[in-house]
Amino acid sequence: MGLPDLPGKLSATIHERLEALAGISDAPDGLERTFLSPALERAKAVVGEWMDSAGLRVFEDRAGNLIGRKDCENPAAPTVACGSHLDTVRNAGRYDGALGVVLGIHAAEELKEVSLPYHLEIVGFSDEEGVRFGSTYLGSRFYAGDEKIPDVVDADGIPLAEVLAAHRPAFAAPPSRTLAAYVEVHIEQGPVLEAESLALGVVSGIAGQTRAKVVLEGKSGHAGTVPMGLRKDALAGAAECVGLVESEARKAAGLVATVGEIFVDSAAGNVIPGRVSFSLDIRDADDSKRRMFVDRLFQNIRAVAVTRGLDCQIGVRMDSAAVACDPELGRHLARLVEKQQGRCPWLASGAGHDAVAVAEAAKTAMLFVRCRAGISHHPEEYALPEDIESAATVLRDFLAELKPGTGAVT
Ligand code: HGY
Ligand code: MN
Ligand code: MN
Repeated sequence: MGLPDLPGKLSATIHERLEALAGISDAPDGLERTFLSPALERAKAVVGEWMDSAGLRVFEDRAGNLIGRKDCENPAAPTVACGSHLDTVRNAGRYDGALGVVLGIHAAEELKEVSLPYHLEIVGFSDEEGVRFGSTYLGSRFYAGDEKIPDVVDADGIPLAEVLAAHRPAFAAPPSRTLAAYVEVHIEQGPVLEAESLALGVVSGIAGQTRAKVVLEGKSGHAGTVPMGLRKDALAGAAECVGLVESEARKAAGLVATVGEIFVDSAAGNVIPGRVSFSLDIRDADDSKRRMFVDRLFQNIRAVAVTRGLDCQIGVRMDSAAVACDPELGRHLARLVEKQQGRCPWLASGAGHDAVAVAEAAKTAMLFVRCRAGISHHPEEYALPEDIESAATVLRDFLAELKPGTGAVT
């Protein structure tokens, strides 16, 4: 379909919308929107207006996902979904998630007068990062049909089930759908495209990940009176474990492991820490390698605890297998990328994405956009306007040409 390229500069709407979302935060400084937080609800109200102005019918499901739907003339037609997440990490960048939602709405706007052979749903997922409950893809798992509610609580001890039961969606419930395909535009969050001096790339697959929480319990005490040999210092034990996570991961080529959070209960400078909890985030493209690493790491952490006389509880919060994106959809994206930039690299994603969850229900494809120095999950996250414009053209043409079910394109 020979729709013209977007105007020679990033369309003002895309830029304004990314700016607008970057200003909707729960935090006084820095961008933060977590699952069903006040800022996320404000963001959904604004995005719902953009969806409405793009001619989409706006819905919200019970997991808080925002859905803008363009109906096909044939009610029995399958649905193609396009989007990303509206939640963020803490002190986030402005493109992670938001870019995929804004470009999805832009594509729908560009295709407003085009009759598509499928229902199109532009989705703003409610919880990809998993910041509030430590278990990711809550929104996209629900959207893909997995309505199991993980037995998790947030930092205030509020169970997810309670939060969901109390949530009152701001829009009507969406109609049922047969999901045929999902496409997501996302910043690469890594350095590869920049190193290749290319704006866009297609994702071949997404690494699997294990997220866990470790709690070490020793004995708090007076920092001035308890001799070193009589201590059960939970923080010293945690520090030894954190060093172990790093040293063991360095030996496992291709695997990455991170301790991103550590909390000392009743912390005070003159008190020996009695209870410490810390997070584990372990990823690898190879699931069996990751799972063996996790088992061995847990054994080593437990051994540290035993040596130090600490009680050790390890809870796996999430274990998601590596996912291959659909090669046929990927080739379709790649052909459109080659039209934009001559050649199209294929990249494996170390970052998780909603496509992992949606892949349970449909073929998925992801388009990566170069981001400066690969920086992400940080306010300095940045994507060039011309790269975003190029992605917008590819996404629009991909959706215009897609014939789901057959996978064929015109
Ligand atoms: O953590 C991730 O990989 C993604 O940003 N949720
Ligand atoms: Mn993301
Ligand atoms: Mn992220």
